[in-house]
Amino acid sequence: MAFKELVFSGVQPTGNLHLGNYLGAIVNFVKLQSRYECIYCVVDMHAITVWQEPAELRKSIREVAAAFIAAGIDPKAHIVFNQSQVPEHAELAWVFNCVARLGWMNRMTQFKEKAGKDRENASLGLYAYPSLMAADILVYRATHVPIGEDQKQHLELTRDIAQKFNNDFKAQIETAGFADGLFFPMAEPVITGPATRVMSLRDGTKKMSKSDPSDYSRINLADDADTIAQKIKKAKTDPEPLPSEEKGLEGRPEADNLVGIYAALAGSTPAQVLSEYGGGQFSTFKGALIDLAVDKLGPVGAEMKRLTSDVTYIDGILADGSARARALASETMRHVKQIVGFVGP
Ligand code: AMP
Ligand code: TRP
Repeated sequence: MAFKELVFSGVQPTGNLHLGNYLGAIVNFVKLQSRYECIYCVVDMHAITVWQEPAELRKSIREVAAAFIAAGIDPKAHIVFNQSQVPEHAELAWVFNCVARLGWMNRMTQFKEKAGKDRENASLGLYAYPSLMAADILVYRATHVPIGEDQKQHLELTRDIAQKFNNDFKAQIETAGFADGLFFPMAEPVITGPATRVMSLRDGTKKMSKSDPSDYSRINLADDADTIAQKIKKAKTDPEPLPSEEKGLEGRPEADNLVGIYAALAGSTPAQVLSEYGGGQFSTFKGALIDLAVDKLGPVGAEMKRLTSDVTYIDGILADGSARARALASETMRHVKQIVGFVGP
């Protein structure tokens, strides 16, 4: 069976949305709207795999929804909602917990990074996180998943889960009316766009992250012009002038990152950026990058702040999106329960 093309992606409401989230994910979400039906989810249940202060969590959920809309996602034509309002995600995740193998989970590098040395003290939810992510995608039987580079392994696991479910329940899937025995699609990652891996402004070998203790490591979507300027001015560089060709960026992670950010924001390429700024000093280039970043991010940040303060509007969008998402998800769960052998209406 050919699956209907459908885009699904999620962003965690765990604090400051930054330039990496924007260029690595949200910009692509916006682009895909013209070609596909899209579902964009604020994954609040993923967020609580590590401790979240409840009042902060509530604020972050609304902030991510506001960022989606401020960046240009149309919540009427597509679906914008928060995960916890659609209980079918958790329901399917449980089934997947029983499909996925411990050996598969043990290979997940994000768990190892997030759990750190004190693995015994990590939540069970953090360990099962990829199974919930697979459920997010497959409860809509989505075919395309725009993500940054760091989520590639989780997408591979999603496909492994889909495949094992399809194999384990082949006969029941056919009986349920899916003649070719395929119930879940092999969801494809969409890792394209201007910058699939934006690095920290303090260390070009580490990815830009919400959890970095230094706020100077990232540009937040909510930062004002002065803050953006300060952060770019203080961004780590090396003593050499910028190279004139792209291969000159090798072994210079900070220069590579800043040039990549410029190219992504300008809609050009690193080669084009270097043809203009190569041979020059970082200070000149940084000045241009500040102007560009303020110009591109300023309006998104301002609109995001305006929308975040309109709680009634945002909560209305999330409730409406959740109801529409739930109608789709409950249809999948009805089949899943039948396939697995649960008894019910
Ligand atoms: P998260 O904040 O972890 O929920 O990530 C939301 C989306 O942003 C995911 O698709 C990530 O892959 C993407 N993302 C997060 N950090 C970066 C980064 N530094 N560079 C590019 N994409 C990123
Ligand atoms: N794990 C993703 C991240 O940290 C967020 C996420 C949760 C997601 N569920 C998803 C992304 C489903 C794509 C599809 O970035």
